[in-house]
Amino acid sequence: MARLAVFASGSGSNFEAIALALKSTRHTLEFLLCDRRQAFALERARRLGVPARLVSYKDRTKEDVEREMLEHCADRNVDCIALAGFMRLLTPYFLNAFGKDILNLHPALLPKFPGVDAIRRSVEAGEKELGISIITVDSGCDTGPILFQDSFARPENASLDELTERIHSLEHRHYPRVVIETLDKIDAAGGTA
Ligand code: GAR
Repeated sequence: MARLAVFASGSGSNFEAIALALKSTRHTLEFLLCDRRQAFALERARRLGVPARLVSYKDRTKEDVEREMLEHCADRNVDCIALAGFMRLLTPYFLNAFGKDILNLHPALLPKFPGVDAIRRSVEAGEKELGISIITVDSGCDTGPILFQDSFARPENASLDELTERIHSLEHRHYPRVVIETLDKIDAAGGTA
């Protein structure tokens, strides 16, 4: 088995898709870590029975916050982190100290449209092909190595809401699978006993 933590800041629909998919594996979802008290992800965690860790950035240095995150990960022997709409940049301090796999999901075809609001920006730029990227996190903003992408031709006259929904359904289909494949590899390499 391998132990996963998911970090999220918002609705948490990808967190939920991962939590449900993990149930039929040997792997464990140790906790949801969230940086926003109002995030619906916390309510999803409560309904799913997944422990939640709320970590506030308010009036604290990033290093102080990240030290707390590292303690949560160490407490539960986390082998891998999946970012799922976690809208904070992790610093090199965190990446080096954690030292294990961190995945991220992005609603655009990287390297195009990194950062926030990527769906709207792709649509407004008139992109003919829309899609998702799953990457390994590095210290840049959505710059890490690409593990997986999927895309579709943008239908004419589709609204931003329709396109957003289509992108989210691609995310829910693929992100849990890529996360589980990563956990399988960690397990095969002798992850958590
Ligand atoms: C997802 O669309 C994800 O790709 C995006 O946030 C959304 C979270 O949705 N992430 C980024 O934009 C990261 N740069 P969710 O909270 O419903 O899973």
